[in-house]
Amino acid sequence: MTNLLTYEVTDGIAVLTVDSPPVNALGYDVRKSIVDGFEKASADVDINAIVLICKGRTFFAGADIREFGTEPKFPILPEVIATIESSPKLTIAALHGTPLGGGLETALACHYRVALATTRVGLPEVKLGLLPGAGGTQKLPRLTGIPSALEIITSGRQIKSGEALKLGIIDKVCIGDDLSGEAIAFAKELVYQNAARTLVSERNEKTAEHQGQAEIYDAFRAKNSKRFRGFKSVENIIKAIQASADLPYKQGLKRERELFSQLLESRDATAQRHVFFAERETGKIPDIPKTTPVRPINNVGIIGAGTMGGGIAMNFLNAQIPVILLEKKQEALDHGISVIRQNYQRSVKGGRMSEEALEACMKLITPSLDYADLSSVDLVIEAVFETMDIKKTVFSTLDTVVKKGCILASNTSYLDINEIAESTSRPQDVIGLHFFSPANIMNLLEVVRGEKSDPEVVNTGMRLAKKIMKTPVLSRVGWGFIANRVMKVRSYQTDNLILQGINPETIDKVIYDYGFAMGPIAVKDLVGLDVIGRDSGERTVESVLVSMERLGQKKNGGYYDYDKNRQRVLSPIAMEVIKDIAQEKGIEPVPADEGEILARLLYPVINEGAKVLDEGIALRSSDIDIACIKGYNWPVYQGGPMFWANTIGLKKVLGKLQEFEQRFGEAFTPSPYLVRLVEEGKEF
Ligand code: 3HC
Ligand code: NAI
Repeated sequence: MTNLLTYEVTDGIAVLTVDSPPVNALGYDVRKSIVDGFEKASADVDINAIVLICKGRTFFAGADIREFGTEPKFPILPEVIATIESSPKLTIAALHGTPLGGGLETALACHYRVALATTRVGLPEVKLGLLPGAGGTQKLPRLTGIPSALEIITSGRQIKSGEALKLGIIDKVCIGDDLSGEAIAFAKELVYQNAARTLVSERNEKTAEHQGQAEIYDAFRAKNSKRFRGFKSVENIIKAIQASADLPYKQGLKRERELFSQLLESRDATAQRHVFFAERETGKIPDIPKTTPVRPINNVGIIGAGTMGGGIAMNFLNAQIPVILLEKKQEALDHGISVIRQNYQRSVKGGRMSEEALEACMKLITPSLDYADLSSVDLVIEAVFETMDIKKTVFSTLDTVVKKGCILASNTSYLDINEIAESTSRPQDVIGLHFFSPANIMNLLEVVRGEKSDPEVVNTGMRLAKKIMKTPVLSRVGWGFIANRVMKVRSYQTDNLILQGINPETIDKVIYDYGFAMGPIAVKDLVGLDVIGRDSGERTVESVLVSMERLGQKKNGGYYDYDKNRQRVLSPIAMEVIKDIAQEKGIEPVPADEGEILARLLYPVINEGAKVLDEGIALRSSDIDIACIKGYNWPVYQGGPMFWANTIGLKKVLGKLQEFEQRFGEAFTPSPYLVRLVEEGKEF
């Protein structure tokens, strides 16, 4: 037996405790330990029951994701599960933390499950482009019924103990927090009562009622078609769940295995695995160790109650952190506060929030017109107009009122944080905290490290992000930081393609088919052409459309016309404007097929990413992937631009960029870093 498992016996109950930090993932050593432990206990005539429990943060948090894509080492998880299920003893899983995926499947192999009140179970394989491949799709429906299983496995959500008990996934919730003590007592009681030893696999009362009902799966597909678009694993999950109702258990298990194997090496699974580890990597900063102190953030000041200030405030209110929201004028302040309330009211209406929670959040905001009110806050985030002079005035004023050690952050999209920092006497306390719109919804937070930012301040920003449910990505100072900079080149190319006569609908289709929720032109219309074209000063398609009062969806349509259901058709007026501007600029039509359109829109993003890396703005290519996924909804199953580039092959990407450079000029000039990688046969 490996030393990952401790074997103890109490009054005829064998307690098998696994300890494999950080999350007891079911890697080879863990699997082997479980098999050895069960074989030993099963062979001992003095043992009446076996309790399987883990030490540390959590019961097994699933298969060891690092092993996917490597040669399987036996025993594999289905064999571990078969060993547990073949034990003649009564078996009990004692659950704490997050028993997920293979962890929950292991628990479902036991006769009974007991959990702490704080435990959250789930089958999140869909988030890795997979399906539960060790019996989860066959067993969960047997406990919860088909409709709940469809919802739980396709969403991958975590279920708290109370709900898991109601759904039948667990059998008992502990009263206190002595999981091991309560699990042993539960085991003794079950032995004393000679409780049934029915395996989940032997139950079919909940699945039988849906046998042969293909229509429920079709209805589920139709209802969720928008959410599931592009995700290959979802279809396999639905098929596997259907097998749990339509086939005997063993055949269902075989079907699950086939469907699992189809996904294991798929594009989606490799990309989503990359994203899983990339997301965890963003928090690691080579020269700022984890032990770096973190400043406490117990209250926050926000300057500017506009689009961003209001959204940023909501993040802190949701995390129960009080906010002082400061504006220049009472009217703007009142408006900002009322927008926050309206946003919460929408959540209440949609059943995602209670009235009480809404009022509790609103109580945490203090409106203010006076900088002196910020004297005791731990952090200030500035979200005023994007003008250097205004920002500098705000920061120098803050410098005179906030306490020592207060962190001063700017939400600027493009301005130089170092220059802003120099307007204070404490540049070491200044960073960028760059949120993405809508700030209460988008998950990305770029933490911008200025030349003089104290590592403690940077570390606090990174940790704070997690507290407000954002994914932090570290950026150095540079125009547009990471996500805006790399995505901006897609906008330039969109405009060029339109002027070269490519139908805007085709451009939107190409990007939608790639996996984005909307094409770039539909997005322009949604955001508002007046907002998009702001500050350009040039005569462009957008400036002309705005001068015609065509602002997009909000007024008279933009590139498209909209009916009352927001269905769009390309606007003949917009097409005329495009033609006129192209003529004025002397741009000739250049036909391109969909493959070329995609390459011309997205290869420059890869190229810009290479420049961002070369300049040291981003720490690693996977940070750029996360920034695009979390900030711009880059389709997760493509893995982000840099991962996608690797899957295409950098040589091919470079070749295309060189071809486009010849045809269309320097916007496509390859980054020297990309050229170097190709020469050295490397990847991002
Ligand atoms: N395999 C390998 N490593 C894992 C892992 C797993 N299943 N789960 C977490 N880790 C690693 C993380 O990479 C991280 O490593 P690092 O410190 O070196 O960066 C470390 O454990 C801690 O993870 P987190 O930072 O995510 O810790 P949290 O406390 O925030 O979250 C968690 C814990 C909720 C368990 C979260 O890590 C998680 O969601 N893990 C994945 C769970 C999952 O998807 N399980 C299903 C796997 S697929 C499967 O089981 C297939 C089966 O059906 C056959
Ligand atoms: P906005 O125009 O909606 O809001 C700015 C607010 O700041 C206004 O309410 C204004 O009254 C207030 N304000 C101006 N000067 C002030 C001062 N001296 N003191 C107090 N309040 C003052 O602008 P928005 O869109 O919220 O942008 C704010 C900042 O966030 C800008 O730097 C912008 O670049 C950045 N940003 C914007 C994003 C967006 O999508 N709108 C995304 C990410 C960052």
